[in-house]
Amino acid sequence: MKLDLDIVRGNFPALAGDWTYFDNAGGSQAAHQIGNRIVDYLNNTNVQLGASYEISQLSEAKVNKAQNNWADAINAQSVSEVVFGSSSTALLQNLSRSLVQTYKPGDEVIVTNTDHEANIGPWIDMEKHGMVVKIWEVNKDSLELELDDLDKLMTEKTKLVAFTHASNILGTINPIKEITEFIHKRGALSCVDGVAYAPHRAIDVQLWDVDFYVFSMYKVYGPHYSLLFGKKEILDKLPSINHFFIGTDDVPYKLQPGNVNYELTVGCQGVLDYIDDIYYQHYQDTSILLFDRYSKVFDLFANHEEELARPLIDFLNSKKNVKIIGKDTANKEIRVPTIAFTVAGKKSSEIPPLVDPHKIGIRWGDFYARRLIDDLGLSNNDGIVRVSMVHYNTIDEVSRLIEVLDTIF
Ligand SMILES: Cc1ncc(COP(=O)(O)O)c(C=O)c1O
Repeated sequence: MKLDLDIVRGNFPALAGDWTYFDNAGGSQAAHQIGNRIVDYLNNTNVQLGASYEISQLSEAKVNKAQNNWADAINAQSVSEVVFGSSSTALLQNLSRSLVQTYKPGDEVIVTNTDHEANIGPWIDMEKHGMVVKIWEVNKDSLELELDDLDKLMTEKTKLVAFTHASNILGTINPIKEITEFIHKRGALSCVDGVAYAPHRAIDVQLWDVDFYVFSMYKVYGPHYSLLFGKKEILDKLPSINHFFIGTDDVPYKLQPGNVNYELTVGCQGVLDYIDDIYYQHYQDTSILLFDRYSKVFDLFANHEEELARPLIDFLNSKKNVKIIGKDTANKEIRVPTIAFTVAGKKSSEIPPLVDPHKIGIRWGDFYARRLIDDLGLSNNDGIVRVSMVHYNTIDEVSRLIEVLDTIF
């Protein structure tokens, strides 16, 4: 089964224009189902939840449905494991504010230097409360996070290891099940940033056994809103960061100060509508569960993405003056199609402006993975050039980009 790109692209109003979007790791286009859900909510049921009158009940049902379906989609055990919030950054900051109250001075937390700052800063902030923060550094040759290095950092005081599922620069997929098992054996919890992974593959929090997992819907074809998964037994014990009368047993509300944004939560249901539309346009079996439909659709996405990445990686590999910052393979088991590179003799900032006139959107910078770019010695180079593709891109678009880049290198 191959992904039908005409069907896919027909779902994205923005793709009817003449721009090629290759800055998807910054933010993807939104499928039309998202806008439909948001507009329907605002036009028809925009009242406060929790009252006894009919519209309020209807409104609540829509929000609940989105929350429940997302819990199913990522294979959470229950909806209480799903916390919604304005951004992954805000959700992790909130989580840190709550978790820190359960730690004591001298307790240790480990972060990586490959993460977006969203999954570093909130943990480094714990130093203000007497915690010790250690950095798990990427191996500069393999560009991998190695368990031997993590082993040296972990002690009986380690409470949490925060790391990324896929770096938004390197694109490499980290083996999070294996890493989490390693962390659990040493008595700590895992907090995984799935923001750069979630647009490309299905999420299965039970399979991976992660304790916390966060991602942003605006990179998964949805609205500017985010989801944090946390294991129920862990969330249950966390102190509330909400009003004093929102108790510890009020999960996940205690971690959603100001409550969720109703229309955007409902907008997130639009992402699942889109995935389901794609499923039913490719498969007949109506008996399988949401989680399986979601997985099957993302398998189609992954196959297509590998086909997109291959010609670009081959082209970049063929250029002597170009260095891929990450794995130089398109293999879908190894990477997502977020591809970073530098060009000898040129600053990264020089490249995208030469591509812009061709109506192809790519980008340069550190992408808020500031520590990685600094540690790889790329700051003076204005960081890296990043081409980030998703399943709605076409081989034609990749060919056009290659033609343009060929005139620049
Ligand atoms: C890998 C990664 N993590 C976290 C974030 C932050 O997400 P948000 O904008 O939802 O705070 C980003 C945003 O670019 C990202 O790429």
